[in-house]
Formats: sequence, C-alpha cells, structure tokens
Amino acid sequence: MNSEVRRAAEILRAGGLVAFPTETVYGLGADASNAEAVARLYAAKGRPAEHPVIVHFADAAAAFTWAREVPEAARELAAKFWPGPLTLVLKRSAKARDFVTGGQDSVGVRVPSHPVAQELLRAFGNGVAAPSANRFGNVSATTAAHVREELKVDVVLDGGASEVGIESTIVDLTSGVVLLRPGRISRGEIEKQLNVKVTNSNPSSPRHSGGLERHYAPATPTVLVPPHQLDGEIARRGAAVAVLAFSRPDERVDYWIRMPREPQAYAQKLYAALRELDAAGCATILVESPPETTEWTAVSDRLSRAAASPSR
Ligand code: TXA
Ligand code: MG
Repeated sequence: MNSEVRRAAEILRAGGLVAFPTETVYGLGADASNAEAVARLYAAKGRPAEHPVIVHFADAAAAFTWAREVPEAARELAAKFWPGPLTLVLKRSAKARDFVTGGQDSVGVRVPSHPVAQELLRAFGNGVAAPSANRFGNVSATTAAHVREELKVDVVLDGGASEVGIESTIVDLTSGVVLLRPGRISRGEIEKQLNVKVTNSNPSSPRHSGGLERHYAPATPTVLVPPHQLDGEIARRGAAVAVLAFSRPDERVDYWIRMPREPQAYAQKLYAALRELDAAGCATILVESPPETTEWTAVSDRLSRAAASPSR
C-alpha cells in the first residue's frame, strides 16, 4: 500500500483530519467513532453541530453494521450502485452516535468508488465521517488544490479531479423511498432498480444541510438567466459580469466559461468553473439556465442553490 495513504489512516486513528478524493467531490474525513475528531471536523468546516454527516466505508457489509435495519431496498441499491455516488439514509445502530447523526435516529452511509478513498477506508478499517471538503455553505471542492485553498487539515490526499463533480445522490430508506438530494444516479435509475415510485423530500422533514436553500454558493451574487435573456442581461449589466454559459464567449465580457451541453460533463466541471468565476472579482455571475429536462435535475439543483438569495 501507498505509504501516504498508510500515514493518512494513522492520522485518522489519532483523531486527525484527512482530506481525500472521492468520485463525487473531495471529502474531509475524521474517525466517525471519535467525538473529538468529529468536533474538529465541524470546526474546520465552520459547520453547525446539529447537521448530520455521511459515514464512509470500504464496502456494504461494513456500512450496514451502522444500521439496525437493512431493508431489502438498501441491499438492492447497494448491490447495484456501490461502490459509487450514492448515499443511503438508514435507521442507525448503536455505532452511529449522536455526534455523526446530529441526534437523529438515522445515519447516512456511503461506499465511494475512488481508488484512493477505497484504499484509505480499507487501511483505516472503520467508518469515516466525511462532509465535502469546503467551508460550510461554499461550493464543494473537486481538486486537492481547492481543498488546500480553503481548509486547514493535517493531510490532503491528491487523487486528481473528481470524476462526477457533484455530491452523491441521497436516498432515505427509513420510511419508504425518498430522494433527499439528486445526483449522478438519477431518480429514474433508482425507480427502475427497485420498481417503486420514489418520492421527493419534504423540505420540512429530516434535517440535511444540502437542503438549506443557499448552499453550494459562490461569494459573488449569482443569477440564473434563461438562454434568450442572456444577451440582454449582459447589455444591461456591462463589463461587471462573469458568465457561465453554453454559448460562445461574448467579446463584451472578460470572464466567460463555456460549458458542455451534456449534463454529466457539465457537472464534472461545475464547481471548478464557479470557483474560477468567483475569483474574477466581478459584481455578478450570470449562469445560463440548463434545459428543464430530467437529465439536468442534479445540475439544476446545484445551480439554483448557488443562485439563491444570500439574505436567507
Ligand atoms: O458525495 C458526497 O456525498 C460527499 C462525499 C465527500 O462523499 N459528501 C457530502 O457530504 O456531500 P456533506 O456533508 O457535504 O453533505 C451530506 C448531506 C448533508 O446534506 C447532510 O445533512 C445529509 O447528507 N445527511 C447526512 N446524514 C443524514 C441523515 N441521517 N438524514 C438526512 N440527511 C443526512
Ligand atoms: Mg457539502
């Protein structure tokens, strides 16, 4: 095994923090059984302590020991999608303590597929609590450099740019099948696998910070603009804008990132692009709205949160 990963596992055992790559976004990891380590994790992120955190495992067998009930649907989804970009919320076992569940009776568990994450989780041999490796409320980190820019951690394992680019799909199986957060694995794929209807989360039901309206947001005010209004918005706002769009750069605008027309490729680039435009120092980021079709659901979810009013 890679000696850097072995050292990272030792740091986790000693209660330290390790940032590591996953296929979705980078995670900031701590020993999920160690209250002090998890407290350090929340402090590093600036995250409110009552928010639950996802616990990561090397395989489904280990993940399911943190649940007191494993419904058939969980076994089917795990068999189909793990390791991969899916988090399951299950009724917790005694292993999942209040400091990882935010005091709720459920726990979020995930088996990531990134080889470095797999290696780290195997070397550590127990659950690793890992929210996305960014300051609370910011866009997630999809490279090791993003993590280093904003967090002080003991170790950052570098596994290249995250392949999926947006956070895992979260499915709550504690009562029915409820989609808490859309992601690369779509509602349709889950419905097909389970042969049931998947309901949407009720925003007032279980607490999950991805459910906060403004989350995944750049510091620069961000506005979603329908394609046919983009030109008019640029004309109205002048040079003070940075633009994320499908169309070709407009010569009136200095900061313009052209995005792919395919949703998975778009998701992969999204957070790096928002970070880059945020750093441009413009008054506003204009984002051309993606199509309103189901394949764009996860991207649209992140964009509408990035564009939500900062006043809330
Ligand atoms: O792709 C991902 O899921 C990444 C990588 C690092 O694995 N992690 C991630 O973690 O996005 P975080 O903490 O930034 O977002 C996790 C979301 C939060 O909205 C959290 O509140 C929710 O999962 N969550 C965790 N446990 C939960 C539970 N028991 N019930 C409801 N929501 C839960
Ligand atoms: Mg996050």
